[in-house]
Amino acid sequence: MSILEEIRAKAHKQIKTIVFPEGDELRTVKAAAVLKTEALAEPVLLGDPEKINAAAEENGADIAGIRIIDPADSPDRIRYRDALYEIRKQKGVSLEEAGRLAADPMYFGIMMVQLGDADGLVSGAVHSTGDMLRPALQIIKTKPGIKVVSSSMLMEFQDRGIGHDGLLIYADCVVNPCPTAEELAHIAISSAETARTLGGIEEPRVALLSFSTKGSAKHALVTKVQEAAAIAHTLAPDLALDGEMQFDAALVPAVGAQKAGGSPVAGCANVLIFPDLQAGNIGYKITQRLAGAEAVAVLQGLAKPCNDLSRGCSVEDIVTTACITAVQAQ
Ligand code: ACO
Repeated sequence: MSILEEIRAKAHKQIKTIVFPEGDELRTVKAAAVLKTEALAEPVLLGDPEKINAAAEENGADIAGIRIIDPADSPDRIRYRDALYEIRKQKGVSLEEAGRLAADPMYFGIMMVQLGDADGLVSGAVHSTGDMLRPALQIIKTKPGIKVVSSSMLMEFQDRGIGHDGLLIYADCVVNPCPTAEELAHIAISSAETARTLGGIEEPRVALLSFSTKGSAKHALVTKVQEAAAIAHTLAPDLALDGEMQFDAALVPAVGAQKAGGSPVAGCANVLIFPDLQAGNIGYKITQRLAGAEAVAVLQGLAKPCNDLSRGCSVEDIVTTACITAVQAQ
């Protein structure tokens, strides 16, 4: 079974309510129909009911029994406005502004998750990553003990000899442009948790990547990664984690043994932490395009699960992301 098939099977076992702020977007309507019909999640579509029903009908999507909520017209808007105001008033948000935000499907959906009216949220088929992330960061915030929200990319290879049965976790490829050493440490710890919960990797082995292995080069950028490894060791002493190390030292046993002999991670890493977003984002796209790996993004570190889609996503991608979100909520 592929990792995505396993995630679908897990989602089916314990159905969770997933809200879609872009509920009138055609791919989302179709994905909601699949989720409902295949009993993978209980979708809630936000938007104009007339528009959503017309889109479903014209495209033969069966959305019978799926809840549709129009944020502009919902009685819950007042409850969400008041809660949003309480959360954001210290940041200068007035009650009037909170009311305006609560009518926005993105904020309405986030408030549903925050107040427990939905278990998770999926968006981004229309919104940019930043516009999707900001409300989640402002309102849902991080899990206790975790300093930053970040992302893991589940990279699945046809060659089952790579990583953990063909799976590697890459982080952070989506959120933090320039993490500090402490933030990198938290990204490493969150990624190990994602490897366990979503990747089925019982023993994550985390490598903090650099252009240097164990002091082979001296530079402020290398020092940052070394500091991150030290902080992560303090925060999670039982986690198999090492760095700084180069990509080949992390993955190739002979190179790992030569450059970082005795490391619990070198040569057999299955979680790769990139030093910044440029490296992470470029790294995952190179792997996807040149090695043909399947790449699935997951947000981690949020107190409640929300996930972002690529604007070029397919119906299948939305279904997958909803299943991931549901599993995170279990
Ligand atoms: N973790 C937790 N909280 C955060 C984080 C984080 N990583 N980043 C920002 N915040 C909080 C801030 O503390 C702030 O909270 P506050 O309002 O309560 O004080 C709130 O979020 C908003 O912060 P801003 O600084 O105003 O937000 P910013 O404009 O920096 O946006 C964002 C944050 C959206 C994550 C930004 O860093 C970003 O755009 N990242 C890159 C996204 C991107 O383009 N990715 C690549 C493409 S995706 C792909 O290729 C698959």
